Amino acid sequence: MQKKIIRVGELERKYVEEVLATDFSAARGINMLGRLEKAFADKWGGGFAIGHTNGTATLHSALFAAGVRAGDEVIVPPLTMAATAMAVLQADAVPVFADIDEETFQIDPKSIEKLITPRTKAIMTVALYGLSPDMDPIMALAKKHNIIVIEDDAQCFLATYKGKLVGTIGHLSSFSFQSSKHMTAGEGGMVLTQDPDMADLVRRFSVLGYAGVSRKTGKITKDDIQNPNYDRHVSMGYNYRMAELCAAVSLGQLERLDELVQRRVDSAELFIKAIGDCAWLRPQVTPADRTNSYWALAVRLMDGAPVGWSEFRKKFMELGGDGVYATWKLTYLEPMFQTMDFSGKEKVIEATYKGTLQEWRPGLCPVAEKVQQQILAFKTNYWDWERAEQQAEILKKTIEFYGG
Ligand SMILES: Cc1ncc(COP(=O)(O)O)c(C=O)c1O
Repeated sequence: MQKKIIRVGELERKYVEEVLATDFSAARGINMLGRLEKAFADKWGGGFAIGHTNGTATLHSALFAAGVRAGDEVIVPPLTMAATAMAVLQADAVPVFADIDEETFQIDPKSIEKLITPRTKAIMTVALYGLSPDMDPIMALAKKHNIIVIEDDAQCFLATYKGKLVGTIGHLSSFSFQSSKHMTAGEGGMVLTQDPDMADLVRRFSVLGYAGVSRKTGKITKDDIQNPNYDRHVSMGYNYRMAELCAAVSLGQLERLDELVQRRVDSAELFIKAIGDCAWLRPQVTPADRTNSYWALAVRLMDGAPVGWSEFRKKFMELGGDGVYATWKLTYLEPMFQTMDFSGKEKVIEATYKGTLQEWRPGLCPVAEKVQQQILAFKTNYWDWERAEQQAEILKKTIEFYGG
């Protein structure tokens, strides 16, 4: 029996207390964000980490640093939380949807290649449910066409691809600390990059274009601030800076990240064991060259299953199951894409494309459209191991009910 894990504990409280004790005074500031950024970069083996308010703001900053500007194209998967494509729109660029791999549910490199045009500036991969896409062919394509790769790793912490930590393969990567994620401060996000120039751009973009900020710090010196002739803003930016309190909780979580991730992996493995060799229920495939950090356990209800999606969920819950989540509707089938209500951004896009946009209609990404209807996602954040064991048993019983 594994021990009970505390989701947010003493360490996080201790760091919060340290921040509160400063009264948020700049003079007594303890630079919790700086501590977090250094510790985060160290955990991923080096480079530069820049704290943000959330894991959508991070994508926006990363797109800016990647050189994505109005009218450019960014290739994204359609099966993900909509923030991925929405950040592309926020950058006045156009998301172009590539299909996914049927087994891993990740963006398919073969589908990406067909979509590259002279306007393609970036590929935004998503490590969906905690597993990396097949990055080598994606990086090779990017190199060939001079494109930047941004990893959206909101759902992926400490997983590996060919022995490398996910988050260290693309040119920039983005993490979310939203409440459901592996480590959380309620909200929060981090950009990670090995490239010092891109790190400088991310920082400046994320703190209102201030002069004097850099990859290393988001703070401005007292001498600068008190100089009446100080030219503060050298470029347009957003206020995406992570709050010190958020950095305090995040630092505590980061120091406990191995344990927090391991619990999700253990819970997923327990559920996979319960599924066993059931022919009609198949967990997301984790190829041998990767490890999965299992933000959730995504399982496919295969063609020919003796039970439909809603009925399976109902039975699981009837037997005491915690619930089953559907996966997201494909982003391009969301109403905002169907009506092109992009809060005014559609004007920029229409002016650039003049009717030549990818058609956001059913049939665009057939594999994703099929798989999206079949995914049952089980939670893996069981801090109480007894409950995880009980839930796995209920899953087994549900499968047995329909003849295994
Ligand atoms: C894949 C993915 N990208 C981006 C986000 C956005 O992160 P946030 O909610 O921190 O803005 C999320 C989740 O919330 C996500 O799952």
